[in-house]
Parts: sequence; structure tokens; C-alpha cells
Amino acid sequence: MQTAPRLKLSSVDSELIQPVQIFCQGQPFYTAFARQSQFHRSKAKYRLFGGAAGPGKSLALLMEAIIQAHKHPKVSTLILRRTFPELEKSIIDPFRRIVPRAMYKSFNESKHVVQWHNDSLTYFGYSESEKDITQYQGAEFLFIGFDELTHFLLKQWEFMKSRNRCPIPGSVPCMAGASNPGDRGHDFVRCMFIDGTAPRDSDPETATLFNPGDYAFIPARVTDNPIYANDQSYLDSLRSLPLVMRQMYLEGNWDIAPGSYFDIWNERTMTVPRDEVQMKDWWPRWISVDWGFAHNLSVHWHAATPPDEKGRRIIYTYREWVTHGKVPESIGMGICERSKYTAIDEQGREVQKFENIEEIFMDAPRDKRTDEDTIYTQIEHSLKRHGLGMPVKWPDKDRVGGWMLMYQLLQSGEWKICKECPDAIRSLPALVRDPDFSEDILKTDSIADDVADDLRMGLKSRLKNWKRKPPLEERVLARINPALDPTNRAIQLKKVLSEEHKGSKPVPIIRRSRFQAGVR
Ligand SMILES: Nc1ncnc2c1ncn2[C@@H]1O[C@H](COP(=O)(O)OP(=O)(O)O)[C@@H](O)[C@H]1O
Ligand SMILES: [Mg+2]
Repeated sequence: MQTAPRLKLSSVDSELIQPVQIFCQGQPFYTAFARQSQFHRSKAKYRLFGGAAGPGKSLALLMEAIIQAHKHPKVSTLILRRTFPELEKSIIDPFRRIVPRAMYKSFNESKHVVQWHNDSLTYFGYSESEKDITQYQGAEFLFIGFDELTHFLLKQWEFMKSRNRCPIPGSVPCMAGASNPGDRGHDFVRCMFIDGTAPRDSDPETATLFNPGDYAFIPARVTDNPIYANDQSYLDSLRSLPLVMRQMYLEGNWDIAPGSYFDIWNERTMTVPRDEVQMKDWWPRWISVDWGFAHNLSVHWHAATPPDEKGRRIIYTYREWVTHGKVPESIGMGICERSKYTAIDEQGREVQKFENIEEIFMDAPRDKRTDEDTIYTQIEHSLKRHGLGMPVKWPDKDRVGGWMLMYQLLQSGEWKICKECPDAIRSLPALVRDPDFSEDILKTDSIADDVADDLRMGLKSRLKNWKRKPPLEERVLARINPALDPTNRAIQLKKVLSEEHKGSKPVPIIRRSRFQAGVR
């Protein structure tokens, strides 16, 4: 007959040097590494452990679920991973391998539930799609751990917060994530645990309740795991990763996510304070609008420099308005109000003038009406009433081409984002490739989606008809027949140059796709 194990935890409040251990029948089967001990001892309601590869995040999470299950009899704890194969590999297999059989009454292999000797339960679950998480409706858990929290969506984390409760007086429900940076949840995890702010997609009420004091980030790297710290071949394999991934997995850098579409993102070189740009009033400007009511309304203002001698312009996205719950009238008015500046007239008086807005591209419903007009038309009328009378245009919605264009413009330095557009700056590095179609960006139903869609349509729609003059040498070459012999080519060259000089002939647009994209 099995004897009930004596579970002993090293005292949380005693010497902090003491590692956290879990004993079974007098023998420790888990001795936490220093960082793991720090994680176990944290009293924060919500904890994030890790941020880099290999320090023992998953094992620490499993052990925390065991520790919590032994704090009170008949409580439940839960560990979640996004897919079953990952759950099995990172949690269930280590459970079978490391936790002694004498430690628990039973393990239900099909339901993945451990029953401990105090009748507490530990569930191992997965939640692949957003709605899978509702299977836990009605359940309550003293502890919920998310292995690779960035693989989840904010909605799933928020939903599980409502399941994190325990009727036992004196019990302290808590949740934890173990995670590398990256993937779809990078942004919300970073907001909560690294930046100490409410996730950008929180509903406003939840956002006001956000208390940074509830959150603790316990960073850990591979060097915090003595097994790997001296394993040169494993360390070398991490060191040989491409730069961005190396920064993530080896150094735990949360500034950019691996798998990020914009893997060239560099906030230092790609963003600029607006007053450093010295924008001229006459620079052409345009506005992009991606409508949303319950979702986000995203509006951006863009300006382009005149072309330099190589025909190269720089586009500045210099203002943003990201909000929700606005009716068409307020949207039109809000855009107009933001599109004005104060000038001094001949009499020295201050007057409000509109910026040099040439076009407005708007994605808004053309089939939904609240009166006889569609939402699209209502916004258009409101814009007109408040002073921006140009026709509003339907945007170019090509996703793959649009993302590519944004990528190329960022890479070539032809698109800069002003610091006054914080949502654009936060969204771009948060966008990850769609695993089912890697040329596209994964839709995550988040603020980053709405902002990115708006930026994409703003750039793609305008640059589609970009009247960009190719540089002289390319214009000339495009008009010389390569099949001619050298003498005739020289004659033709002379002719073309003289025409170019006089500007007498229209210049054919060559290598169309490249110039459409405005990329050099
Ligand atoms: N405290 C510990 N004692 C012994 N081995 C450990 C400990 N913590 C982690 N390990 C081992 O280190 C390896 C990496 O741990 P894991 O939890 O999978 O890391 P991560 O989730 O951070 O990538 C695994 O083989 C695991 O069993
Ligand atoms: Mg892991």
C-alpha cells in the first residue's frame, strides 16, 4: 500500500538563499534553480516567468501548480498550453518523468487530471482556438498557469481571470505565465508584465482597474539553468540564430517579437519626433481611415517630401487618432479638427487653416445604414460639412502587396513614423506572420490589426498612383533600343538627352512595379 507522501516546501519566508524544494517520502524530487525559486516565492497575483529559452520555465510552472494544489485540500489548479502536442511534450511528459508515483492518488490519462492525496486536482489542458477556452466556464481554479503565454490571446487570459477563484477562506488565487517573447500574444504580455500598463486591447473599464502592483516579471535566461549554462553546443545553437531570434531567445529582449512580419523594425531609425521633421505647409498630405465602432477607428495622417534628385521621397506618418464608439458625425468632425493648423494672416491675426490634405482613403461600410445613407456616406458628408470637401476614396485593400510595400518603405528609409503616433509604433513590431499563409499577417482581432490595416491602406492607396520620376539615367536607358549597333545607339542617346534636357517629351514609366511601390 502506498503511504501518503509528506509534502514539504522550504519555508517561503525563511532564508531566501534556500532553494524551493518539493519532497516525496523525505526525498526532494524537485530542487528549484535560483530563478525558479524567485518565481515560486513571488507573492504577486500575476507572475510572468522567463522571457528567454531554456531556464526551466515549463517545469517551474508545473511545480507551481503542484505547490498550489497542496496549499489547501480539494482545490483545483490548471496548466494550459495552446496545443495538445505541446502540452504533452512540455508538461505531461515531465510530470510522468519527474513527479514520483507515490506523490498522487491517480492520474486520469484521458482527461489529463491528477488527483493528489489531499483530494486537490491538477488539470492539464489546452485551448487551441479562441472559443476552446469556454470549456472552463463554471470551473474555478486556485492557480492557473499558461505555458508560453504569448501563444494565447488577451481574451483567453481575461476569460481565465474570471475562473481564478477559490471559496476557501484565506486562499489566495493567482495566475502565472511562462513564456518566451514573440507570437500573437507578445503585445499584451509585454504591456502587462514588462511595461506595467493595461494591454492596449483591454476594454476601457478593465483598463482603469489595471494595477501594475499585481504583476511581477521574473526574468530568466538559459544561463539560469545550470544544465544548459555549460552546454556549449546548446549555447552555440542559440548564438547561431538570426539576430532578432538570438536577441529574443538568448537575451530575452521584448522589443521585437520573433516571427514578427517587420523583422527589420528599428524604433531608433524608423521613428522621429515630429518637430525634427520640419514639415512644410505645402507638402502633399493625405489621410487614411479604417472605420470601427465597437472595434477601433484608426485614422492616420501622412505627408510626403518633394522628390530628391533621385526621385526619392520620404513619407512621414505624422498624426494618429485611434478611438472607438464614435458616430459618423463625430468622426468627420474629429478628423477635420485635427487637420487644421494656426497661421498668421496679413493683418497679423491668428487664423485656422486646413493642412494641404489632397486625398482621404476610407474603409467604412458601404452597405450598412443607420438612415438612408450608408456609414461611409455619412462620414463623407460630415467631413464635407466640417471643411474637408474632397471626395473620399475607397482604399486599395491588397493585403499581401500592402504589407510588402510597408516593409520595403521601412527598409529603404522612405517611410518614417512620428513619435506622435504611439499606436502605430507599438503595432508594427507586434504583427506576426500568418502560419497558414506566411505572406500575410495573422489577424488577431486586436488594436494592432486595426492600426496596421489603416497604415497599409493609407500607403498602398496613395502610392499606387505615385507619380515618381525615375532618375535621369534610368529614364534615358529605358528609351534606348539595346538591339541597335553602337553608332546608332550613340545617335539615339544624344537625341534622348536633348529631349530630356528640354523636357519636351513625356517620360515613360519604366519598371512599373518598382516605381509603383515607390521603392529604391
Ligand atoms: N530545477 C530543475 N532541476 C533539474 N532539471 C531542471 C530544473 N528545471 C528545469 N530542468 C530541466 O531543464 C530542461 C529545460 O526545462 P524547461 O522547463 O523545458 O525549460 P523552458 O520551458 O524554459 O524552455 C528540462 O530538461 C528540464 O527538465
Ligand atoms: Mg518551455
